[in-house]
Amino acid sequence: MKIISQTIVTLCATLLLLGLTYASSFYPARPPAIPLAVKSPYLNAVQRAGCGNGGYLAGQGQTLGWNGMIRVDNTIYTWMGDPIGAGTHTVTQKHFWYSSTKSVFSMDIGGKVEMTITFLSPITPGDQKRQSLVFSYLEVTVESQDGNPHDVQLYADISAEWVAGDHSSVAQWDFNTTNDGISYHRVYRQTQLLFSETNDQADWGHWFWATKKVDGVTFQSGADKAVHGAFQRNGKLANTKDTHFRPINKDFPVFGFSIDLGSITSPVSTLFALGLTQEQAILFDGQTGNVPLNSLWKSYFPSETDALSFFYTDFTTANATATALDYKINNDSRIAGGHDYVIITSLSARQAFGATQLVGNLTNQYLFIKELSSDGNIQTVDVIYPFFPILLYLEPSMVKLMLDPLFENQESGQFPQNYSMHDLGYHWPNATGHTDGQDEWQPLEECGNMIIMTLAYAQRTNDITYLTMHYKILNQWAQYLIEEALYPAYQMSTDDFAGWLSNQTNLALKGIIGIEAMASIANLTGNAADGARFANIAHSYISNWQVLGIAADAKPPHTTLSYGVNDTHGILYNLYSDRLLNLSLVPQSIYKMQSAFYQIIEQKYGIPLDTRHNYTKSDWEMWAAAISSESTRNMLIQDLAKWINETPTNTACTDLYDTRNGDYATEGRDNHFVARPVVGGHFALLALQGEPYV
Ligand SMILES: *[C@@H]1O[C@H](CO)[C@@H](O)[C@H](O)[C@H]1NC(C)=O
Ligand SMILES: *[C@@H]1O[C@H](CO)[C@@H](O)[C@H](O)[C@H]1NC(C)=O
Ligand SMILES: *[C@@H]1O[C@H](CO)[C@@H](O)[C@H](O)[C@H]1NC(C)=O
Ligand SMILES: *[C@@H]1O[C@H](CO)[C@@H](O)[C@H](O)[C@H]1NC(C)=O
Ligand SMILES: *[C@@H]1O[C@H](CO)[C@@H](O)[C@H](O)[C@H]1NC(C)=O
Ligand SMILES: *[C@@H]1O[C@H](CO)[C@@H](O)[C@H](O)[C@H]1NC(C)=O
Ligand SMILES: *[C@@H]1O[C@H](CO)[C@@H](O)[C@H](O)[C@H]1NC(C)=O
Ligand SMILES: *[C@@H]1O[C@H](CO)[C@@H](O)[C@H](O)[C@H]1NC(C)=O
Ligand SMILES: *[C@@H]1O[C@H](CO)[C@@H](O)[C@H](O)[C@H]1NC(C)=O
Ligand SMILES: *[C@@H]1O[C@H](CO)[C@@H](O)[C@H](O)[C@H]1NC(C)=O
Ligand SMILES: *[C@@H]1O[C@H](CO)[C@@H](O)[C@H](O)[C@H]1NC(C)=O
Repeated sequence: MKIISQTIVTLCATLLLLGLTYASSFYPARPPAIPLAVKSPYLNAVQRAGCGNGGYLAGQGQTLGWNGMIRVDNTIYTWMGDPIGAGTHTVTQKHFWYSSTKSVFSMDIGGKVEMTITFLSPITPGDQKRQSLVFSYLEVTVESQDGNPHDVQLYADISAEWVAGDHSSVAQWDFNTTNDGISYHRVYRQTQLLFSETNDQADWGHWFWATKKVDGVTFQSGADKAVHGAFQRNGKLANTKDTHFRPINKDFPVFGFSIDLGSITSPVSTLFALGLTQEQAILFDGQTGNVPLNSLWKSYFPSETDALSFFYTDFTTANATATALDYKINNDSRIAGGHDYVIITSLSARQAFGATQLVGNLTNQYLFIKELSSDGNIQTVDVIYPFFPILLYLEPSMVKLMLDPLFENQESGQFPQNYSMHDLGYHWPNATGHTDGQDEWQPLEECGNMIIMTLAYAQRTNDITYLTMHYKILNQWAQYLIEEALYPAYQMSTDDFAGWLSNQTNLALKGIIGIEAMASIANLTGNAADGARFANIAHSYISNWQVLGIAADAKPPHTTLSYGVNDTHGILYNLYSDRLLNLSLVPQSIYKMQSAFYQIIEQKYGIPLDTRHNYTKSDWEMWAAAISSESTRNMLIQDLAKWINETPTNTACTDLYDTRNGDYATEGRDNHFVARPVVGGHFALLALQGEPYV
């Protein structure tokens, strides 16, 4: 079973790989990893470019079995994965393309038959019923290529590796068919460990691998050798269940379907669904102490098999909805930043939403978000902040669902500090807060982020009540900014990997913009006196900041990384929120100055985050692009699109890479950022409204 995974799960399909490296064309780009089933933190499977060529990174994710074979006129071919004993017949990948919701492969089989393999992970931000389902589609279409009829049998399976991160744990499984005719394998960790995970894989919940029970469908569970062998010998499976429940890695149990398509000439499609059901998804320390929260799908469906049936039979709608979203993102991106921007946004959409999960009930929902790969924190404020442009663009009402748990925890007195907390818990799915006040200390960062995100949400939805409801704590955080923002103490910003520093120019700017945002919040909620006071302070601070934070005599002038150190610089990404919130606090001259400066620090794949390292953050580059002149914007977008096409990294987009060679950032680091939701920030251009400033 040679399949490789990453974040959570990566699939390395050897033959897809052959096509990938040698024969295939790609559109709109050749991504570092291809999203396959990317829907939530625990359903997050990608195919790594170049895996099988030694691309596996120890400690970075899990290996999963997901195999596909096809028999054409009695000859067996592999189209996905690396099934046991598959022989030497390979399909040739001709083409691969991706959109925001789909990854589509075209395969040629000996000039006889053509396969189109579509991985569709729906994104439906305005439709919570569908967004709440942790399921993904795989559609396989087969047609004759030479005009002659061909005898075709199709095979696909999953292994038990999907059900737990510790592959010595015991799996259990069953097989059944729903009343509306969906056959499914259900596989799960025999001993369920609620709210526990290993190597980013859940230790609880049930996995479903399903297809429609049509004529010619057979199934089998059993050792990979036995099940693969049955298909290879007979072109069908035995309709038998292996009931010897055992460790995932003992005679690797797999769960197969085979479909006898008979003699085909015109296209025939087979649809599979893969997903995870967890009744309870999050442990949350809200108003009333730690309570388990249900997955939101529970509110729409009486049982997990009802959810499965709905998802499976919904494919026509899901496909049409997905196509509409693909077009929307494609069209809007093309207008905002050209074809290169389409490359970036359409690769980022599934990754961004794939770190989220809806929980709660019909009257009270939350959107939780996992800081995948960097440390697993839940509801990290400075991860939500770079992520949130995609929500502002697609569905601003969802910002509230993401902020609510943070407000609820802190307003009920569960966090004993005067500043905003950094995250709601050390590890997903435990949003159990920090009642001891010992969170990761980024006080200025998070106070500014919370005020800015809350105002952005209210501006886009006109939900002024929300501002009133949270005025007290927002005001408290604004006080913190007033005390701390102009001369930031020795601390970290969100770029904690880059180190601690005093007087950070960009961090101070966020704090000052946060104070001005609070002025706007005060004005909107009828607190005019507060509004005038905050506005006065913000304007006075921004004047000071322009003296403290700018290397005015430098050629060309630019903001510094920290006050007075004139030979330093950094991406001034916090300026974006001045424009996002339409505050006009910062003079246009600063936008122009930075925009011009970025041109002269360009490396092959972008501009460095700051003078401490050669690496950059792709999310902050796009924040900067959104408020830059047209030529600088195009430069930044072109460089990131080029990076996607050329990077030697082979995991779901890292947001931290070396601008010189496109590789993972290594300076001072021993781990990689992978599959993080911050790529939602790639939508920064699309989250802006109105005319550009520069
Ligand atoms: C199989 O599913 C049917 C409903 O489709 C149900 O009545 C039956 O109890 C299930 N069998 C098992 C063994 O779970
Ligand atoms: C979450 O908390 C529970 C105890 O309440 C614990 O068993 C579990 O291991 C924790 N999960 C993680 C991922 O830390
Ligand atoms: C899915 O959508 C695509 C694009 O609109 C369309 O070509 C295809 O026929 C659709 N498939 C199904 C099964 O509806
Ligand atoms: C996107 O553009 C295509 C082709 O130009 C057009 O047919 C489609 O209606 C547009 N879709 C959206 C959602 O804007
Ligand atoms: C919905 O969830 C909220 C908070 O988690 C809870 O107070 C409320 O009772 C729930 N409502 C229903 C109908 O279960
Ligand atoms: C929070 O602020 C109040 C009022 O300024 C102060 O009395 C209190 O000591 C502060 N709490 C902490 C934990 O710093
Ligand atoms: C921050 O900058 C101010 C103004 O330049 C300076 O007086 C102060 O010492 C700096 N703080 C630190 C900790 O370096
Ligand atoms: C808030 O209102 C005050 C006047 O009361 C005004 O000076 C200030 O500019 C306003 N600020 C914002 C951000 O709306
Ligand atoms: C940095 O530049 C500012 C203005 O451009 C100047 O006032 C200051 O003296 C410079 N600082 C150093 C250490 O050169
Ligand atoms: C950036 O890379 C160059 C070599 O390409 C190296 O000389 C320089 O020290 C690096 N800069 C930093 C800040 O690490
Ligand atoms: C931004 O604010 C200006 C006034 O400062 C106003 O004229 C303009 O309409 C606002 N734009 C948006 C998109 O709200």
